[in-house]
Amino acid sequence: MQRSQRNTLLAIIVLSGLVLSPLAVSHYDDKEPAQSYRQSWFAMMAANFGPMAAMVKGDIPWQEDQMASYADQLAALVTLDVMRGFADGTDKGTTRAKPEIWENKADFEAKMNDLTKAVDALQTVANQGTDRKAIAAGVGATGKACKACHDDYKSKEYLY
Ligand code: HEC
Repeated sequence: MQRSQRNTLLAIIVLSGLVLSPLAVSHYDDKEPAQSYRQSWFAMMAANFGPMAAMVKGDIPWQEDQMASYADQLAALVTLDVMRGFADGTDKGTTRAKPEIWENKADFEAKMNDLTKAVDALQTVANQGTDRKAIAAGVGATGKACKACHDDYKSKEYLY
């Protein structure tokens, strides 16, 4: 394909995306890039963790390959620097992040590190594949790490 054709095709793909999916576009608020960044990261975490928890609960069938794949994706996500999204001055805007985060940054970061450790352990055990009890325990430990932080630092409602 020639370059100009390729550019036209790209433009069509981009434009149709804008027209067809206004919700997806509005996830990124360019006036609040840090807030958008962290919220998108949490959304991706939940999109991978949700089905893992559902498999453990028996809400959907347990599939070992999917379990390992979601665990790999969680592990990839925790390599991103989500703390960028909690830079100073980003405590306002469309957010559920409580102001206490910026008052207790060290504790907040420690809870983020606890999550990283839980996810890395879960990735290891999920890729071994066979020990469902151990995988379920890893999912439980990861869920606890999510909850430990939410209990202290995530509001149920938008704050501002
Ligand atoms: C160290 C703290 C911390 C950990 C660990 C944590 N969260 Fe959160 N989470 C937050 C905060 C703070 C917010 C609110 C962000 C905002 O509104 O700006 C949030 C928001 C969310 C949201 C809403 C995102 C949106 O659409 O706005 C989801 C979903 C979520 N977290 C899921 C998870 C899951 C699943 C885990 C574990 C795998 C997890 N979180 C671990 C602190 C944490």
